[in-house]
Amino acid sequence: MVLMVYYGWKMADDLDNGRITLSKRIDRSKYRLTFVFAVLFLLVNFHIASQSVSIMNQLSTAANGFVALTDDVEAREPDDDTTMDAPMLLLLGKRRMGKGVVWDNNNDKNDNNKKRPSIVLFGDSLTQRAFGENGHAGWASLLAATYSRRADVTNRGFGGYNTRHALHVWPTVEQAYEESNHNTVLFSTLFFGANDAVLPGNPQHVPLKEYRENLIQLIHKIRGKLHQQDSSNNQQDQPSKPILVLTPPPVDEEAWSAFRNHTESNRINAVTRSYGKMVREAVHQILLQQEQQQLQQSSSCPPLAVLDTWELLQGHNQTAYSQYLSDGLHLNELGNRKIYQGVMELIERDYPHLAPKTVKDADEGVPLEGLPWQDVPITTIVDYNSSNSNNDQPQESTS
Ligand SMILES: *[C@@H]1O[C@H](CO)[C@@H](O)[C@H](O)[C@H]1NC(C)=O
Ligand SMILES: *[C@@H]1O[C@H](CO)[C@@H](O)[C@H](O)[C@H]1NC(C)=O
Ligand SMILES: *[C@@H]1O[C@H](CO)[C@@H](O)[C@H](O)[C@H]1NC(C)=O
Repeated sequence: MVLMVYYGWKMADDLDNGRITLSKRIDRSKYRLTFVFAVLFLLVNFHIASQSVSIMNQLSTAANGFVALTDDVEAREPDDDTTMDAPMLLLLGKRRMGKGVVWDNNNDKNDNNKKRPSIVLFGDSLTQRAFGENGHAGWASLLAATYSRRADVTNRGFGGYNTRHALHVWPTVEQAYEESNHNTVLFSTLFFGANDAVLPGNPQHVPLKEYRENLIQLIHKIRGKLHQQDSSNNQQDQPSKPILVLTPPPVDEEAWSAFRNHTESNRINAVTRSYGKMVREAVHQILLQQEQQQLQQSSSCPPLAVLDTWELLQGHNQTAYSQYLSDGLHLNELGNRKIYQGVMELIERDYPHLAPKTVKDADEGVPLEGLPWQDVPITTIVDYNSSNSNNDQPQESTS
């Protein structure tokens, strides 16, 4: 802009002083340069404008809790790449044509202020595969179905990982708890040990004592995140959100060695059991420590619960547990269902306020998000049929 003004002034000066005349060929490079700067200036402004539209869209989505369709803002998903679309919005303004409905956000305010909570699952392949395989349900997908429209299940399973790997990957995993910072984490699961328990000499092996120490570190890290979240949300008084620590399930040595075409299994059920016992020890140690510090510590810590999947799948009875495993190590569908049931029974028994609220007037439980559709206040029917366009389908208000 400054350069444009400068060259304009310079040229007028030159004309005045008779250094150039309009009829003569004047210095074209000055025009070119001025033109280039003008275009650059416009592009930069356009970029800034599109950025702010993108930010505003995100803000309005965050504020409403769900994507609202209004007559002057294009409805969009929160994670759309709006920077590409935004200039179009600026130029075209109203784009949505056809018939639509307007959501009365004001009447929904209370509901929209409540953000959907999440359930964060951190573990190895037993978690990674828990969204289901080969068309079968897994314990996490069953959990997601149960909490559908109530809480989002965030799967942070890393196949092959032991607790050393888990500590290493923590800086990226902790984002799963940070993303939920505006909401709350209902509960979380920590499910490592199946790989730590592989026999020494195998690269995934972690000694028993180190496994316990790693678990303690991981629990502290998760608790730190949850506690930070509660403080920033002023939710110290809220009912607590537990960390469920799962023990590794039993190993069917015969099935596992057959699967690997080896004569000997590198995983032994009794060894895996001893790792499961370390889970209890780790949790016990943390709780003991906490008890000792309780006097200085006024705010509550997220509680810890152990889900003993080895017991759950009857680790002492090979005939029984072999039916829950696919390859001797991983869970088949039946095993996945058992783990899911174990988690839900624990929640319903010890943390009923975190169970899905299925009876409308129940005192506790996690309710469905949003009003029943019959109660959604739709105040205006808007006719977008004002111009011809190939635009989006009108929003349906059914089911
Ligand atoms: C075991 O052997 C079978 C047949 O040779 C082969 O298909 C399979 O991939 C092998 N499994 C492993 C884990 O190497
Ligand atoms: C082991 O499990 C099988 C299958 O569930 C059952 O029939 C059997 O009675 C169990 N054995 C013991 C000792 O519990
Ligand atoms: C929408 O526009 C079309 C064509 O202009 C017209 O035939 C139709 O009746 C309009 N619909 C409504 C609901 O106004």
